[in-house]
Amino acid sequence: MSEHETVPVRLDARSYDIVIGPGLIARAASHIAPYIRAPRVIIITDAHVGPLYAKPLAADCAARGMRCDTLTLPAGEATKSFTQFEKLLNDLLALKPDRKTTLIALGGGVIGDITGFAASVLLRGVDFIQIPTSLLAQVDSSVGGKTGINTAHGKNLVGSFYQPKRVLIDTATLQTLPPRELRAGYAEILKYGLIGNPDFYQWLLRHGGEILAGDTPSLAKAIGESCRMKAAIVSADEREGDVRALLNFGHTFGHALEAECGYNDLLVHGEAVAVGMVMACRLSEKLGYLNRTVGDGLIQHLRAVGLPATPRDIRADWDANRLLAHMYGDKKAENGTLTFIVLKNLGEAVVVKDVAETLALDTLKECLT
Ligand SMILES: NC(=O)c1ccc[n+]([C@@H]2O[C@H](COP(=O)([O-])OP(=O)(O)OC[C@H]3O[C@@H](n4cnc5c(N)ncnc54)[C@H](O)[C@@H]3O)[C@@H](O)[C@H]2O)c1
Ligand SMILES: [Zn+2]
Repeated sequence: MSEHETVPVRLDARSYDIVIGPGLIARAASHIAPYIRAPRVIIITDAHVGPLYAKPLAADCAARGMRCDTLTLPAGEATKSFTQFEKLLNDLLALKPDRKTTLIALGGGVIGDITGFAASVLLRGVDFIQIPTSLLAQVDSSVGGKTGINTAHGKNLVGSFYQPKRVLIDTATLQTLPPRELRAGYAEILKYGLIGNPDFYQWLLRHGGEILAGDTPSLAKAIGESCRMKAAIVSADEREGDVRALLNFGHTFGHALEAECGYNDLLVHGEAVAVGMVMACRLSEKLGYLNRTVGDGLIQHLRAVGLPATPRDIRADWDANRLLAHMYGDKKAENGTLTFIVLKNLGEAVVVKDVAETLALDTLKECLT
């Protein structure tokens, strides 16, 4: 049996495969070669990931006869800026690419998002391949074709829908990922179970500890299942109507917490999503949908694996009205009313538009005390 799993993303002419397995980077060229238009690739990576994985990747590409350059960007969210984007495009152009050149994003979601965006506009569009190295990027950002950068007006407000030609997930890269980043990615994995797969969620409750201890078979299973769910959702709704919006479960509350913390190391995205999912469960209860045991069980599990579960696990002082103001500012707030993704049942998420402000505020207040 092959030690690689392949998950198709079906999007007509833009369909592609996600390949998942340990040690893929050192053998990446054979996986890449059939999907490039010319033997010319440019690897884009960051200052943490580059020193660990760019060399073996470039060496394998060169051994296969590809001309290969590497550009290394600073690590961190600040790289998703107009300034870095302009520099990246100029550095790419200095390497004299042509329309058959393929960009390879080697890194976390930051590198995937900025590289995909650059690929969508460089020479009016060149191909790109994702090699995600953070758990969050492997289960979420590398699949589905959302690319972009941040602006002074908010996160991810400038970008494009632009699908990669292939996604290569080398599960062995997670061995060097900082534990906090591993936990942050795990929160998004839990999200897939909560919104669409109760059996997977129950499995995660039993195996979350192993996954976060780096157990390779459990990690591979969790990544595979997450990619299958994301692929199905993206195939059904590439440009985010109501189906893809379900992936934002926990994110309206989570984004408000992130905005209030100023997008810094106090709270990373996956941690905000963890807490946001608990808050979304509480709102689901207030809407009369969900049994309280689901939210209680989620809190217990998050704490057991070392993730924050309530706002007070992050810091003591919060203001419900300020969080509410952030939620109105969130781009999912349509026409000044609040839209949330809630659970009707475990594994059954729905979009609810027009949620009464008092209900949202009650939920915030309950979760802050
Ligand atoms: N496009 C989408 O659909 C989508 C979805 C979710 C999130 N995102 C975006 O993804 C970004 C967050 O992604 P992220 O959490 O991967 O952040 P990131 O890219 O900043 O990576 C997190 C940290 O881990 C380091 N790192 C990555 N892989 C490593 C490895 N194997 N070993 C050691 N260090 C490693 C990085 O250098 C960085 O310091 C955000 O900008 C978010 O907006 C996009
Ligand atoms: Zn997220």
